Amino acid sequence: MTGEDKHKKSNGSEFGPLRTFGRTGGRPLSARQQKLMDEELPKYAIDTKDHKANLAPDTLFTHSPREVWFEIGFGGAEHLIGQAQKHPDFGIIGCEPFLEGVAKAVTQIWENKIKNIRLHADDARDILDALSDNSLDRVFIMFPDPWHKAKHHKRRLIQVEFLQTLARVLKKGGQVRFATDWANYADWALEKFEASDDFEWTANQADDWRIPPEDHITTRYQMKGLGDCKPVFLDFVKV
Ligand SMILES: C[S@@+](CC[C@H](N)C(=O)[O-])C[C@H]1O[C@@H](n2cnc3c(N)ncnc32)[C@H](O)[C@@H]1O
Repeated sequence: MTGEDKHKKSNGSEFGPLRTFGRTGGRPLSARQQKLMDEELPKYAIDTKDHKANLAPDTLFTHSPREVWFEIGFGGAEHLIGQAQKHPDFGIIGCEPFLEGVAKAVTQIWENKIKNIRLHADDARDILDALSDNSLDRVFIMFPDPWHKAKHHKRRLIQVEFLQTLARVLKKGGQVRFATDWANYADWALEKFEASDDFEWTANQADDWRIPPEDHITTRYQMKGLGDCKPVFLDFVKV
């Protein structure tokens, strides 16, 4: 394994699993974005340093959230912000290592005075490892990096160990939504979830995965249609 292959955890020198994301930097942030990142991000950021499977996520919020949701890789933050605004009585944790995306989220949170979002500007797996058992109500994995070359499949977020972590942190009856527009990743994810005793696929008919669910919020990334198939939406429940 090369140094580049290993993901250095944000909370120390320990190395975690393979890196599942591409670039974390893009265009330089504007002066306004940088100011918001410096002044506002620390107010929503999650400190994991004293936590190993013992962080109760509802304690991160000031309003005793009715449910806690978790979005992995929120990209441009359209889905994260939209869901938070639709569900002000819930708490939503968003994770994204791509700084431009984080800056977009912080700007939206600040401009719209959103109170129910907490952010981690790095690998979602840092936070999942810190969370206590049976503590999340819902997880969104929307259009994750496809890593479509066979030699890169090991970098896909959906792996057996990752599903074990999701099963640990989700409450019984908790839900996972996985969406992709890469046919091979849809097959891969379905195979891994179906092989797990912890999850059941909720679909009854083809339209359940072919038609965007009513509560879905489309993102700019999704609209680009970069994959090789129409978007597939797979909803699972923890049994
Ligand atoms: C292809 S983009 C899709 C963005 C967004 N979900 C959407 O649908 O518009 C995938 C995003 O997931 C992020 N990502 C990949 N692995 C991640 C991880 N382990 N933790 C958090 N974010 C991750 C990447 O940085 C990237 O921004």
